[in-house]
Amino acid sequence: MFHPDLDDSLYNSATRYEPTEPDTMDTQPTLATERLLLRPFQITDAARVQLLAGNPNVATMTSNIPHPYADGEAENWIAAHADDWQRGSAAIYAVCLRSSTELIGAVGLMNIHDGDAELGYWVGEPYWGQGFASEAVDALLGFALTSIELSRIHAHHFARNPASGKVLKNAGLRRIGRHMPGTENNPTTEEVVLYEYLVAGD
Ligand SMILES: CC(C)(COP(=O)(O)OP(=O)(O)OC[C@H]1O[C@@H](n2cnc3c(N)ncnc32)[C@H](O)[C@@H]1OP(=O)(O)O)[C@@H](O)C(=O)NCCC(=O)NCCS
Repeated sequence: MFHPDLDDSLYNSATRYEPTEPDTMDTQPTLATERLLLRPFQITDAARVQLLAGNPNVATMTSNIPHPYADGEAENWIAAHADDWQRGSAAIYAVCLRSSTELIGAVGLMNIHDGDAELGYWVGEPYWGQGFASEAVDALLGFALTSIELSRIHAHHFARNPASGKVLKNAGLRRIGRHMPGTENNPTTEEVVLYEYLVAGD
């Protein structure tokens, strides 16, 4: 799974990640940036996830966070992460402030298969507008491009959520189009904007 080609074009030198544990696909490593620590979720994070992600201003901007966010949903979500990591199908990280270890959001690559991965993220509303999502995504992609064999990373956001598009542009993804609601490729009832990053080949 280790990718020999490091594509530096995605990195932002201001937030270049530092792996704090050896890169091994057996153990999901913690990643550190200037202000953030990205670590695997723990079951004890569930109440915080329910509080922050269950906020309608966060959940309704995504197509996969339930709202209302019922008791037990966060535990179920977190409980699946270790298997998903081991199978190589996802790399999900809790985004924490390095100064206080406080959990402020999540970032992850999901549905990893055949070199393709979907990028997703959220940041708790009290922490918006401080560059945390961009910093976390930059760290995740920096790690993924050096440690996971990927040829493409894709993402989408609702058209009414331009802040998410800015995070993707900050990370170096390219806008590739839109899907209108009700079409085969868009199960939502809303227009979505599509982005991708193509990893440089051999
Ligand atoms: C989208 C989200 C992750 C952004 O988190 P954040 O930590 O505030 O993001 P950042 O501070 O790194 O960057 C936000 C960028 O969007 C810009 N922005 C904010 N509101 C905007 C708006 N209404 N229109 C255009 N750009 C906007 C900011 O100026 C910033 O741009 P900059 O990097 O040039 O300064 C956060 O708002 C969130 O979690 N929303 C709900 C869940 C969600 O949308 N997840 C993504 C689903 S696709």
